[in-house]
Amino acid sequence: MILQDKKILIAVTGGIAAYKINLLVRRLVTEGAEVQVIMTPAASAFVSALTLSTLSKKPVYSDFYSENGTWNSHVDLALWADLMLIAPCTANTLAKMMHGQCDNLVIATYLSAKCPVFIAPAMDLDMYAHPSTRQNLEMAQDFGHLIIPAETGELASGLVGEGRMAEPESILQSITDYLNIFNDLESFSGKTVLVTAGPTYEAIDPVRFIGNHSSGKMGFSIAEAAAARGAQVILISGPTSLQVRHERIKLVRVTSAREMYEQVFKFYDHVDIAIASAAVADYAPATVAAQKIKKSDEHLTIELVKNPDILGEMGLRKKSQFLVGFALETENEEENARGKLQRKNLDMIVLNSLSDEGAGFGKDTNLVKFITADAVYEFGLKSKKAVAADILEFIQKETLK
Ligand code: PMT
Repeated sequence: MILQDKKILIAVTGGIAAYKINLLVRRLVTEGAEVQVIMTPAASAFVSALTLSTLSKKPVYSDFYSENGTWNSHVDLALWADLMLIAPCTANTLAKMMHGQCDNLVIATYLSAKCPVFIAPAMDLDMYAHPSTRQNLEMAQDFGHLIIPAETGELASGLVGEGRMAEPESILQSITDYLNIFNDLESFSGKTVLVTAGPTYEAIDPVRFIGNHSSGKMGFSIAEAAAARGAQVILISGPTSLQVRHERIKLVRVTSAREMYEQVFKFYDHVDIAIASAAVADYAPATVAAQKIKKSDEHLTIELVKNPDILGEMGLRKKSQFLVGFALETENEEENARGKLQRKNLDMIVLNSLSDEGAGFGKDTNLVKFITADAVYEFGLKSKKAVAADILEFIQKETLK
């Protein structure tokens, strides 16, 4: 039972879907989880604290102080939790979470939480489709939170559309899927993992650069998966809006390939595992113009020089590290990936192809093959978090051989 003894903190906010939380609490408790419920003041109009407290077998808090004058510490609540779920999450609470508007116990607890955060939004269809809600949900994803998307159906307003909170069984499934992925909590304990992520930007002048579409999602997912399994992680990332909050992840932000190279080799000799998922520019402008280049002739030629091959250099300097590279291909995929595996002296290469739907830059999913000197392992389309879990599972098996 993956949920046995898991500490789940559920924050209920003021939406009609709050009534479904009774069922979810009961299911979680039956599965062996310890459940603590907190509520916004508005939630109590939709669901009773008494019911939730009876089902969870714990007092339910909705204010910073109880009637007897004791402090309901948001910090203690947040640090207690293995996982926090905000369900239903109204547009109002979502907006406050994203902007740190800390005016109730739920938001204060959320801001103090270091554990994985799940958000199950619920609102009317136009609110759900509004650009401000979409932006807030994207921001939540960038913060590393997991969104359990709203479903389509009849809404409290009588309208039909997308905005219904996911059913308790789907929420339960999302939580158990996540825990199954991150189940093996100690398997990388004592190991140090270096991960490169994101794009690099190669400056042309003070306002322009050569870059690519990498979002950093793949690399950040790997870093989070390694840290969740007990590793100390050094995450060296090019420019991305992604954030990370894990005490075992040291995030080093860089801009160019050369900066990434310098940072990587500050750490490389002392790591056990290195995984290069960054999309590093192969070339950079030979010189960076001191001032913005003015429009003049019909043609502008920029001389490019080769950037260091960071992964190639890691392969050359490899001692006992387990070295994993990525290959982003558009044609002759396996052949090209195999070439990189050999040339860069890798233990394994993760091949993804831009010709596959749902794979590559920016997406939340990826479709990969793992290629080693003597085998190819194929996988279906999965979330990048699940791909990250597969990579770590593979490394664990290989290094235990
Ligand atoms: O960030 P996302 O939006 O989530 O997208 C993920 C991804 C598509 C960027 C990722 O899955 C991926 O494929 N990363 C590698 C992209 C790439 O640059 O592939 P490549 O085939 O050009 O490079 C081969 C390997 O050498 C890569 O591990 C790369 O990090 C490394 N490299 C390349 C050039 C260079 N100068 N230095 C390097 O270290």
